Amino acid sequence: MTDRTHVVGLCGSLRDDSGTRIAVDRALAAAAAAGATTELLDLREWDLPLFDADAADAGDGPELAARIAAADGVVLGTPMYHGTYASPVKTALDYCDIEDWAGTTVGLLAVAGGGFPTPALEHLRAACRELKAWPLPTQVAIPESWAAFEDGTVADAEIAERLDDLGGDVAAYAGVEDYPERAAAGGLAAD
Ligand SMILES: Cc1cc2nc3c(=O)[nH]c(=O)nc-3n(C[C@H](O)[C@H](O)[C@H](O)COP(=O)(O)O)c2cc1C
Repeated sequence: MTDRTHVVGLCGSLRDDSGTRIAVDRALAAAAAAGATTELLDLREWDLPLFDADAADAGDGPELAARIAAADGVVLGTPMYHGTYASPVKTALDYCDIEDWAGTTVGLLAVAGGGFPTPALEHLRAACRELKAWPLPTQVAIPESWAAFEDGTVADAEIAERLDDLGGDVAAYAGVEDYPERAAAGGLAAD
């Protein structure tokens, strides 16, 4: 165990050349630069059958939920599919209980082939609220994905900067739920 802030990334696209994964990786690198330990929970590598509350075998669902529960922060990225977030994210969320996300700081990002993927971000934000997570005001919307990524990197400097801010903020605000207690104990004094 380490007492360093731990931030995990989730990417809702299973495509090998996913722009969303490039963006999540960039934000995770920024979280690492801010002092967090980081890990991409790559959903291509997890056995996640469509969630069925009656199923005897939930695959890797419970282990994924445990890994999210152990994280202080999550960079949660999705491509926009038909006006909302993609099904691998939904499946991952459905394997989790509120306790797995409660108090977890979340940085949201979404990627679209067309215009700004604002609906996908709003829908994820609503899911985070139900899970009692703490979605940050900082979020990144990446439109026109065909032009946004190049050779496995983020092509646009402004988008790259926003992703860096997102990852840095997830690391900085991880543990936000404990702030009132820490403030009461004198741990958040400004001077
Ligand atoms: C099933 C499906 C639905 C999509 N729906 C939308 C959409 O509603 N709006 C949009 O702008 N792009 C839509 N796209 C385009 C994706 O958002 C875009 O290709 C994105 O870059 C995919 O993310 P990825 O590169 O991480 O795989 C859709 C793509 C797929 C495969």
